[in-house]
Amino acid sequence: MVSKVFLRSWSHVSKMMSGARTYQLKPSRLGVEVFGIDLAQQQPQGVIDQIKEDVTQHRLMIFRNQSPISGDRHVEISLWFGELESTFYKHPKSPHPDVFRVSNVESEGCRGVGRTGWHIDGSFQPAPFNYSLYYMHVVPKEGDTVFAPLNEIIEGLSEDQQAKWDKLYMMSDRRGSLVHPLVYSHPRTGKKVSTSNLKGEVYPDIKLVFIKAKK
Ligand SMILES: [Fe+2]
Repeated sequence: MVSKVFLRSWSHVSKMMSGARTYQLKPSRLGVEVFGIDLAQQQPQGVIDQIKEDVTQHRLMIFRNQSPISGDRHVEISLWFGELESTFYKHPKSPHPDVFRVSNVESEGCRGVGRTGWHIDGSFQPAPFNYSLYYMHVVPKEGDTVFAPLNEIIEGLSEDQQAKWDKLYMMSDRRGSLVHPLVYSHPRTGKKVSTSNLKGEVYPDIKLVFIKAKK
């Protein structure tokens, strides 16, 4: 039985413009829940521009009460944000070649994805992904997809820890020599964030920092 299936695609950044918000935002523990908009329907450019502004400010947007999203529509929405980075692994049941279909059941989607620990999507590439767009077909009853507030984590470090992290680099275990600064400034907000791909043993304190940041 399928207990978890979700699809995702990702894309690179495009320019921001101001628009009019015609949907409602409700603060969530991290980011916002969004009501009053059905992404399966075509949206005016002003609404698309507002969504792009909102995701920059709030980082995570959870769109509730959605009609079914086709693979073509998933890709169409992803293209609001720029050029797509197509998926590396293709599953026979993927609704579109650029949509990464993930499941805990092999016949439904690629298994064991993102299970190595906290990570930035695409951090094994020279330019990690700017956005990931997830479409949850079946929400698992157990096991969470968890997002961490990176700026709060960095800001929550002591001065000594921040000075130490400022000197560190992240090395990809998939591409060997590729490195990114562990801490960098977000290109749009200027806030400090982190390129991390942690399995826990390298910086065991990050889990404690994350718990502290959530309170
Ligand atoms: Fe991921």
